[in-house]
Formats: sequence, structure tokens, C-alpha cells
Amino acid sequence: MQKRILPASSVSGSIVLPGDKSISHRYAMIAAVAEGATRIRNYSTGADCHSTLGCLRALGVEVEGQASEFVIHGKGLDGLRASTGDLDAGNSGSTIRMLSGILAGQPFRSRIFGDESLSRRPMQRITKPLAEMGARIRARQDKYPPLEIEGGDLHPIDYKLPVPSAQVKTCVLFAGLFADGETSVTEPVRSRDHTEIALREFGANLTSARSKISLAGRPRLRGRELTVPSDLSSAAFFIVAALLVPGSRLTIHGAGLNPTRSALLDFLSGIGAKIRIPQLESQNGELVGDIEVEHAPLRGGTIEGGLTAALIDEIPVLAVLGAATEEGLTVKDAGELRVKETDRIHTVVDNLRRMGVRADETADGIVIPGRQKFHGAAFDSFGDHRVAMAFAVAALHADGESVIEGAEAASVSFPEFWHTLSRCAQVRN
Ligand code: S3P
Repeated sequence: MQKRILPASSVSGSIVLPGDKSISHRYAMIAAVAEGATRIRNYSTGADCHSTLGCLRALGVEVEGQASEFVIHGKGLDGLRASTGDLDAGNSGSTIRMLSGILAGQPFRSRIFGDESLSRRPMQRITKPLAEMGARIRARQDKYPPLEIEGGDLHPIDYKLPVPSAQVKTCVLFAGLFADGETSVTEPVRSRDHTEIALREFGANLTSARSKISLAGRPRLRGRELTVPSDLSSAAFFIVAALLVPGSRLTIHGAGLNPTRSALLDFLSGIGAKIRIPQLESQNGELVGDIEVEHAPLRGGTIEGGLTAALIDEIPVLAVLGAATEEGLTVKDAGELRVKETDRIHTVVDNLRRMGVRADETADGIVIPGRQKFHGAAFDSFGDHRVAMAFAVAALHADGESVIEGAEAASVSFPEFWHTLSRCAQVRN
């Protein structure tokens, strides 16, 4: 699908975004192995989170509901049954990596696969710790999906994550649910902690001291009512759009503002953005609030180290913003971007150049000089949702019409993206 985008005179109004993708996956997976029913409101409408529900159904879990509200009838820790067919994770790295932790705890064999993009993404990061816990796992060429997992009889481990990854942390903790004793994970830098919060909400006994998280195995998890905050990573596209286009003033309602995710707002405020959060509240252990943002000239800067890990999903759209800042943007320590849905260092630089913006790839980052003009261009999503949405935002700030090829990719996390964009972006005459 192709989308035409015209330059905008402002990005303004009040918008509500779909539920957080990371939290939705976790709630659904934990609900499946909890006892009793869990009602989840504002569940992500993205295709990725529906891949998770599809896999859970295939494992014998009853899932009722539609759109963004579901009731999941939990089977308890020992109630899943073998799927009659292979489990389809679609485009979703979270589904395959996190669900594999649960599959490793089952006394049956599962096979889980994904689409072409997912089939190229590295899985040793989960197969290694799961094998250490006692699961038998086979991967294509020892590293790629499909994965064949024969689980059961896991023993706890004390695992040091070699890469900062909340998906891997979650995978090990989910496997730890089925092991007798205490499973621990130590992180090199702090990653999003939705799993820890959600497991506690469902009744697990989990402690965290500095960078080490420990979970007591075989907990009694109880079904409950939960509401997912709106996705801050989806909000990022609109925040950047409002910062880029002069005259913009936008309010985003009910966004998830978990401190392990909100580095985006701190970074932007630090380089001059006008962002206000009038009020914060806690909902199922997660912080939630409205975000008010208005256009402002920005300085630019460097994203590196722990900040890169904290902003990893936002870097495509921040790269776009970087080109319009005073001093430009340098991204370092972002080798992980090369193994996302696409090699995002490459696909972002390719699209920036299509609109006449200078940008250079480094082995693990991007260098983008500031004060650049954006020219209308023919962009390609390369099948990557965040690339599609980042360049839709770039197109709003261009000097002419742009076209995005593969625009349907946005549906992976944000099917309403194009509609929401057309509601708040006023076309420039
Ligand atoms: C996610 C963690 C991140 C992120 C992904 C969602 C999660 O991946 O990029 O979109 O929900 O835990 P990594 O764990 O690979 O860093």
C-alpha cells in the first residue's frame, strides 16, 4: 500500500493512541498461565499483539473479545496443551522470544516460526539461557527461527544478560515461572521493567536489587482486571511531528510513562523541547499521564550508552528530528538497531538520503548534521512499521509531496496511525 503525504502547517489537537505493545504482550502471556479470567482493556490493536493471542489460542487458551478488549481464561501453570500446528509469531520478535520462555516450561514439543523479517532475527540470545535451564531447543542454523522447543523440568539459573534486552530478560523470567527455586537475571543496563511490574500484579514473588531481578518459581498467579496505558513508542511519532512543524500544539491522552520508557521525554526536554505532563497516576503499577507538546527549535545532541538502549525503538523518528535540529544528532552504541525488523541504521539512512538529507552510517550508529532541509521524496518502509511511521513524520516537514511505499507495515504496532495522522496534521496550502 502506498500513502501520499503532504507537508503540514501544524500538528495539533488531542489524540488517543492504542495500548502499549510491550505491556499487552506481557499481560496476555501471563494471563494465559494464571488461574482464572483476566480482562484486558486497551489491548494493543497492532498485528504483533494479535500474533501473541493467536499463539495462546493454539495452546488451548480461550480468548474472548475483539478490537481492544479481551478476556483471557487462564489455564494455570500446568494447563497449556500442545498446539496441533506450528505457532505463528508473524513479524513479532516479542512473541517468539517471550513466549519461548513459557514453551520451555511445557512438557510437550512446540514449533514456532515467523515471517521473512522475523526469520532473519537472532535467537541465540534466548536459546542459550533456555538450554541452560534444561530445555531442548533447535533453531535454523542454530540461530534463526523456526524454533523447536521441547520443554519441561526446568531448573533455575542465575543469568547475566550479554545484551541489554527486555525481551530476553522476560523470556528467562517466564521460563523461571516453571522452575523450582529462584531464577535471577542481571542486566548490563536497565531495560523496560513491564514484566517485573506485571508479574507482581498477578501475584508472583519477585525482587529487584540494583541490576538483578529474582523470581521465585512456581508462583500462584491469579487472573485480574487490567488496563493497558497508551503506547509511548507510538506517541513518539506524534511528539516528534509536533516538535518539527511550526505552530503545532498537541495533547496525547493516557500515555504510559514508565520511567524505563520515558527517557524519550527527558532527552527531548534536555535539548529544548516544550513538553508538559500535567498529572501522573499509577494504573496497575504503571505510570500513566497526558503529554502536552508544542513546536520548539531544538539543539540536537548525542545518544549513546544506556540512553541508546532506553530509546532504541524511538531512534528512527529521532533521526528524522535530528536533521532539523541546530547541531544535528549522533547515535552511538546502537548495533542492536541492525537486528530489528529491518537493519534500521541502513533503512533510516537510506530514507533520509532520499529526501536530500545528509546522513552517515557507522558500524553501530548514525551521524546526521543539523539545519537540513527536507525535500518531498519517495520513501520505502522496507516492511518495517517504525520506518514507515518515522518517514510519514518526515514528510510533514518536507517542501513538497511525499509517497511512502509499504505503508501498511504501520499496522504491526499501530493500525490507526494513518487515520490519527490525517486527523491532527493540517495540510499546508
Ligand atoms: C521490547 C524490547 C525491545 C524493543 C521491542 C520491544 C519488549 O527489544 O525493541 O520493540 O517489549 O521487551 P529488545 O529486548 O530486543 O531490546
